[in-house]
Amino acid sequence: MDSRKICEKIVVSESDIDEIVKRLGNQINTDYAGEEIVFVSILNGSFMFTADLLKQITLDCHIDFMQVSTYGNSTNTTGNFVVKKDLSFDVTDKNVIIIEDILDTGYTMKNLIEYFKIKHVKSLKIATLIDKPGRRTEDVHADYVGYTMNEDLFIVGYGLDYAQKYRNLPYIGVLGEHLH
Ligand code: IMP
Ligand code: MG
Repeated sequence: MDSRKICEKIVVSESDIDEIVKRLGNQINTDYAGEEIVFVSILNGSFMFTADLLKQITLDCHIDFMQVSTYGNSTNTTGNFVVKKDLSFDVTDKNVIIIEDILDTGYTMKNLIEYFKIKHVKSLKIATLIDKPGRRTEDVHADYVGYTMNEDLFIVGYGLDYAQKYRNLPYIGVLGEHLH
């Protein structure tokens, strides 16, 4: 399929992404000057964002990956939280930055924060490529936000999927109605 016809509207272009990762990378380099960081990338959605953001980091850092699934939704926040792939490193006493693709209801992040609390990390911050504040049901916020999306639209590309497809697009866009 011609990837240019998949999205009816581009929300975050390739050049926007370039600016975002540079801005967030600089912010993190400044905030953590002289410190070490463990980045924890939440698979699968944040793989591209993680790769580009990490290229901007000039500090000593480790990268680890987790995969989680949640069965909650906006009306049922008591759903399950399952760790499908766990950390490979001990994060005790480390500066951890979680890298997420989208902060939507906040349910996934609320559970991740609880998970890291019992690990006795030195500090915990959250970087998200996209923030959808209007959709939030949980009291969580990101420390580093790439792009704030106020419209309630379903987006794909640059790691984000619809039924596991379209993660390969180099930009983020709204999926055309005919492809749902
Ligand atoms: P939350 O637990 O509701 O915050 O869910 C966040 C997760 O839902 C993200 O990590 C995404 O995987 C997924 N998600 C939410 N909105 C979108 C979207 O517009 N496109 C693709 N995935 C989304
Ligand atoms: Mg995700």
